Amino acid sequence: MAVERTLSIIKPDAVEKQHIGAILALVERAGLSIKAMRMLHLTRPMAEGFYAVHKERPFFGELVEFMTRGPVVVSVLEGQDAIAKYRELMGATNPANAAEGTIRKLYAKDVGENAVHGSDGPDTAATEIRYFFPGYEV
Ligand code: CMP
Repeated sequence: MAVERTLSIIKPDAVEKQHIGAILALVERAGLSIKAMRMLHLTRPMAEGFYAVHKERPFFGELVEFMTRGPVVVSVLEGQDAIAKYRELMGATNPANAAEGTIRKLYAKDVGENAVHGSDGPDTAATEIRYFFPGYEV
């Protein structure tokens, strides 16, 4: 086990429904520390850049539309095994498959409007943290 950092996004659907506090409480209860945080409304170029890896997917347009429809809360989480721990806390991408007690089971509507994003590995985490916190140092 190593101390890691991961990038979390609380997406527009969860912000609209006023679930920011509940989600952050679950994060802290899971033993993850919030090391940096921003609330911002993504521009289309920022959302397209963040999800560039998905640009050939059929849902890309829908994803960018959704991610730009309202503010998001972006944070850097730190802790032992933070990347896997946060992915476990989020639950499956599709809330229909998410385990009880996970963020997506509790707060997501469907595979598109799925409440939260978390980095999927150490390289992605480093890239995603730099994307939103370019000057960030602990
Ligand atoms: P996220 O973890 O942010 O990474 C990529 C996102 O694409 C994913 O969460 C979903 O919000 C979205 N996504 C994945 N599959 C689909 C799909 N079939 N239809 C719509 N959106 C999707």
